[in-house]
Amino acid sequence: MRAVHVTRLDGPKAVEIVDLPEPEPGADQVLIDVHAAGVAFPDVLLTRGLYQIKPEPPFVPGSEVAGVVRSAPEGSGFAPGDRVAAFPAFGGFAERVAVDARLVFALPDRLSFESGAALPMNYLTVHFALSRRGRLRADETVLVHGAAGGVGTAAIQYARALGARVIAVVSSDAKAEVARRAGAHDVVPVDGFRQAVDGLTGGRGVDLVVDPVGGDRFTDSLRSLATEGRLLVIGFTGGEIPTVRVNRLLLNNIEVIGASWGGFWLRRPDYLREQWNELLPHLEAGRPAPPLGATYALDDTADALAELDERRALGKVVVRVR
Ligand SMILES: NC(=O)c1ccc[n+]([C@@H]2O[C@H](COP(=O)([O-])OP(=O)(O)OC[C@H]3O[C@@H](n4cnc5c(N)ncnc54)[C@H](OP(=O)(O)O)[C@@H]3O)[C@@H](O)[C@H]2O)c1
Repeated sequence: MRAVHVTRLDGPKAVEIVDLPEPEPGADQVLIDVHAAGVAFPDVLLTRGLYQIKPEPPFVPGSEVAGVVRSAPEGSGFAPGDRVAAFPAFGGFAERVAVDARLVFALPDRLSFESGAALPMNYLTVHFALSRRGRLRADETVLVHGAAGGVGTAAIQYARALGARVIAVVSSDAKAEVARRAGAHDVVPVDGFRQAVDGLTGGRGVDLVVDPVGGDRFTDSLRSLATEGRLLVIGFTGGEIPTVRVNRLLLNNIEVIGASWGGFWLRRPDYLREQWNELLPHLEAGRPAPPLGATYALDDTADALAELDERRALGKVVVRVR
């Protein structure tokens, strides 16, 4: 089968397309014909050996896919021909992948393979982060950084599905358009976002900040929180890992909350199916439907990864495999 290979940790441009033997599914694994694979920032970090998990090259990246079941273990609930989405964590940028049955999910008929491939990483992350860690309620206001990215667009859509008001933060007009299409009520530029939040909330601030970016905007994010507001630490695309002076938390009655979806479900893999079942009514109602960005052929996966690496992605980038 054709697959993407990371043979040296030199970034997206160094990935290669190779012929590999097909994976042999283990006793608990579903074998999937991959139709589409989602591109996520952790895939970019993996090509440089900068992600928290550091596999030895050579390896096949690609954490999330959608496709058709080729074979499935007895009692798994899946059968050949079923349309599914899945989270293999690795191996998804390939024509076929074997995935633990607990990490495979039925894909509603109304969703395309591209949409299905855009769901597992970002939508299960924001479901965990906003609901479980952030305790978001319907009457609250959420500020979303990196709002035109994969996590950002998913956060906008899931927050809206819960009934919250969403203010999106983006770095360009093109990204503002993506955030608006995803459902943001208001969109503000990175520069001066704190003053803009003040204006939009009448000086009260927001209840929840979703931060996949980190870097130098962190302190202004804390300053944007209302009393009893929470900031969700999701990731650091901005590069720098911020630090917090805890007197700020004390004086303003605010919280900084870590939200590592992988760190949670790895100890509890059955949680993923619970999450999918909770998201399913929203998915079947068409909200959230992921705002898709560019689609690439498998041969062009290096270019797909470079879009995220170079901060150019407008919506969720997907690789079409067949
Ligand atoms: N905690 C978890 O469980 C979990 C799960 C999944 C992903 N993540 C993390 O979440 C983060 C976002 O992932 P993603 O897939 O949403 O990425 P993405 O689609 O590339 O979006 C990231 C956004 O970050 C902003 N950004 C700011 N500075 C950047 C820079 N120097 N380079 C690239 N982007 C920059 C960009 O928005 P603007 O240009 O508008 O600022 C961009 O839209 C990553 O750090 C990822 O590792 C965490």
